[in-house]
Amino acid sequence: MIAIEITAPGGAGVLKPCERAMPIAGDNQVLIEVAAAGINRPDIMQRQGHYPPPPGASDIPGLEVAGTVVAIGNQVSHLKIGDRVCALVAGGGYAQYCLARASLALPIPETLDFIEAAALPETFFTVWSNVFDRGQLQAGETLLIHGGSGGIGTTAIQLAKAFGANVIATAGSAEKCRFCCQLGADSAIDYKRQDFAEEVGKLTDGDGVDVILDMVAGDYFPRNLKSLAIEGRLVQIAIQHGAKSEINLWSVMKKRLTITGSTLRGRDDEFKTQIAEQLRQRVWPLLASGTIKPVIHRCYPLTEAAAAHELMESGLHTGKIILTV
Ligand SMILES: NC(=O)c1ccc[n+]([C@@H]2O[C@H](COP(=O)([O-])OP(=O)(O)OC[C@H]3O[C@@H](n4cnc5c(N)ncnc54)[C@H](OP(=O)(O)O)[C@@H]3O)[C@@H](O)[C@H]2O)c1
Repeated sequence: MIAIEITAPGGAGVLKPCERAMPIAGDNQVLIEVAAAGINRPDIMQRQGHYPPPPGASDIPGLEVAGTVVAIGNQVSHLKIGDRVCALVAGGGYAQYCLARASLALPIPETLDFIEAAALPETFFTVWSNVFDRGQLQAGETLLIHGGSGGIGTTAIQLAKAFGANVIATAGSAEKCRFCCQLGADSAIDYKRQDFAEEVGKLTDGDGVDVILDMVAGDYFPRNLKSLAIEGRLVQIAIQHGAKSEINLWSVMKKRLTITGSTLRGRDDEFKTQIAEQLRQRVWPLLASGTIKPVIHRCYPLTEAAAAHELMESGLHTGKIILTV
């Protein structure tokens, strides 16, 4: 089969098409003939050599695929050959065929095509697990989403609104702010022109927000603490501005804040299966009814994965970038 491999850590040019052996499904796995695969920011970190695949995972990049089941393992009973599925995988997505744990392969709602379905797993698993489980966002509360126009951001805006929260998003241009509001955000802050903590103060009458989903960290950390309400929760999912920051513990004590965070890829299959079940029960009906829909910015053929990475690194996208096979 044709796959895209990372020939050496580096720029987008290190992504090259290659010939790989066809994977064979293990007992609890399915083999998917890939129709589309999502691009995620962690793929870029992996390409640069900063995010190695966990033990046992394929070295081929790609954390999510959509396609048709073409082989099933001995222990798999709830899926059959020919099923249309989208799956969360720990690697191997940039390829014509990809193995997935059967419990992490979800049916594709009839309202969605393969391209839209390939945009679901990584961001929906991440947002559900961090905003609703970890951050415990409740209806009527306010969520601040940094990077509202990206893959994670567009998912977080739609899910938070669908579950009755108020949403403030940050984004890096007036156009991206408008896009966040069109998608459902109640307000958006252009972080390049405005201080988000000041704006959050104004938008919440000084109360602050209940939950923050942050992928920036570094210099954002003190401003995130300032932006949180009493009993607020900061959920850290990336550290684009650096892992280190100074913490004012008094503000944590005074406001009884919770600081948490997680990474999805290295978690065990049991944990991911629990998230898959919650998504199937609580979120898949919203996709099936058209209440929420992934936002696709652009598709590239599999062999043009390097161009797809370049687009993501340019920051010019709004929503997801997808490879088609
Ligand atoms: N922890 C996990 O399990 C997990 C899983 C998946 C992804 N992630 C992380 O989540 C982040 C988003 O991933 P993605 O795939 O959605 O990538 P993406 O579509 O490229 O989104 C990246 C986002 O970061 C935003 N950003 C960068 N600097 C910012 C700043 N100073 N203030 C506010 N926003 C800023 C960008 O906003 P602008 O374009 O407006 O600048 C953009 O929306 C990445 O950092 C990724 O590593 C974490």
